[in-house]
Amino acid sequence: MSLARYLARLGYGTRKECERLVASRQVRSAGGAILRDADPFAHEDVRVDGAPLDPPPGSVVLLHKPVGYVCSTRDRPPLVYDLAPPRWLQRTPVLATVGRLDADTSGLLLLTDDGPLNHQLTSPRWHLPKGYDVTLADPLRGEEAEQFASGTLRLQGDDAPLRPALLSAQAPRQLRLTIREGRYHQVRRMFAAVGHHVVTLHRATFGPLDLTGVALGHWRVLSPEEVSGLRQAVQEAKGSR
Ligand code: URA
Repeated sequence: MSLARYLARLGYGTRKECERLVASRQVRSAGGAILRDADPFAHEDVRVDGAPLDPPPGSVVLLHKPVGYVCSTRDRPPLVYDLAPPRWLQRTPVLATVGRLDADTSGLLLLTDDGPLNHQLTSPRWHLPKGYDVTLADPLRGEEAEQFASGTLRLQGDDAPLRPALLSAQAPRQLRLTIREGRYHQVRRMFAAVGHHVVTLHRATFGPLDLTGVALGHWRVLSPEEVSGLRQAVQEAKGSR
């Protein structure tokens, strides 16, 4: 693929704009050599106006979503994409969110342009464990953990009962709930089903991943080892169905 076409796919402009970018000598190697459109290149070695390129195709990005940001490419702002370079919305294919978090939920959100991996991570047939930190309006009564673990609890409007979920309490109103499904507003609806109102909700873990080292509103690209770990976790989740 030519350099201009590659840059256009990463959202640096239209094909024509990227051809002009290359022609204007703004695209160079890490060592400063001018790159021309037909030159061979390696992603890590390309600089645009001196800056390394955005994540390469096939990346998985881990974002620490603040409350208030919407998981959509075209909803009313602020969008989770407002936390990244504006180019991300011009990429082909787009770095899509892996499932969604509600606007009023914070925490770990993955994005990827690897469609099959995204599908694997969101398939309703198997789900990686996801850990949510929850603050309730009122203290637990005592029977909630058993209700969530039972595998018989039903959400209003849903036919199938919920899979067993693990509830552990850090304090009477501060809990960690680990679920293996991804139903619409699942955590808030689960607590509503047992008579509780969720005040704050934060996703702390997604399979083997957590938010260590990623400040609120920031993101990082997962390493190849971390992506392998995710794939491995999917295989294990499939195996344990
Ligand atoms: N469950 C919810 O209710 N909301 C989220 O954002 C995620 C899980």
